[in-house]
Amino acid sequence: MLADDKTHDKGVNHGVAPVTYGQGDRPPRGDYATAREDYTCEQDWAAYTAQDHDLYRRLYERQAAQLQGLACDEFIDAVRHLGAPERIPRFDELSQTLYAKTKWEVVAVPGLIPEEAFFALLAKRKFPVTGWIRKPEEFDYVVEPDVFHDLFGHVPLLFNPMFADYMQAYGAGGLKASRLDACELLARLYWYTVEFGLIDTPQGIRAYGAGILSSAGELQYSVRSQEPSRVGFDLQRIMRTRYKIDSYQATYFVIESFAQLFEATAPDFTPLYRAVRDLPEIDAGAVLPGERLFRAD
Ligand code: PHE
Ligand code: CO
Repeated sequence: MLADDKTHDKGVNHGVAPVTYGQGDRPPRGDYATAREDYTCEQDWAAYTAQDHDLYRRLYERQAAQLQGLACDEFIDAVRHLGAPERIPRFDELSQTLYAKTKWEVVAVPGLIPEEAFFALLAKRKFPVTGWIRKPEEFDYVVEPDVFHDLFGHVPLLFNPMFADYMQAYGAGGLKASRLDACELLARLYWYTVEFGLIDTPQGIRAYGAGILSSAGELQYSVRSQEPSRVGFDLQRIMRTRYKIDSYQATYFVIESFAQLFEATAPDFTPLYRAVRDLPEIDAGAVLPGERLFRAD
């Protein structure tokens, strides 16, 4: 997960400053007291209750049941690597499998972390996964990313070599964006690809974004609804476009392939950041004149 850049350091009782999301007045949910300097911590697998594991299984089964025809094949093929749905996976076991495939690992974090820490972990091919799981009453919706979103949504595609390389490049690019004061623009790229990306396949539009794939309702909506706009991937267009954090997206961006995503984002973004700053922002859901949209099938 990626946190907003609003950190607040109470200066007591924790090794590192916890992070808040959105308005900045809600306390973060995790326990930051035991986190290391890089914000990683132990998963404490033994602390999960039978109810926690059961909730994970129910979330998993609800999503797994609707992947066919809505999720991209790369995701569907890799979900099995998460292991049996009956238990929240042990991050160290999952890391072994993942490392063998793409040299990525998953590491535990208390929850949302500051963006620089987040970028630094990605640049080292370590994906931060929140330790806690939502409450049963949050079955349908949880405000902050939990272990289910982070694992089920993000980890399967880290088994794909091209996407795995994109995520590392994003981390390195994030560290650079921090120096260029361009994190807000780069965050839009994360949002519209890693979290809410769609991909065009011979079988039709499919989802690859983690925010979609871990959502009960948005998976169907993003691929099939006539409501949202589906725009072809365009780096500058994405960086100009605002996004919604409290409802389904009004616009999705569609890639042709993970190779396209990797190659289109490889050039130095410095001139792009400069150009985008001089252009007006685009509202979530707005369609520009002459823009070709993908149709839902
Ligand atoms: N090419 C980008 C830059 O120079 C880095 C980047 C790669 C960012 C991939 C995001 C994704 O800033
Ligand atoms: Co996420």
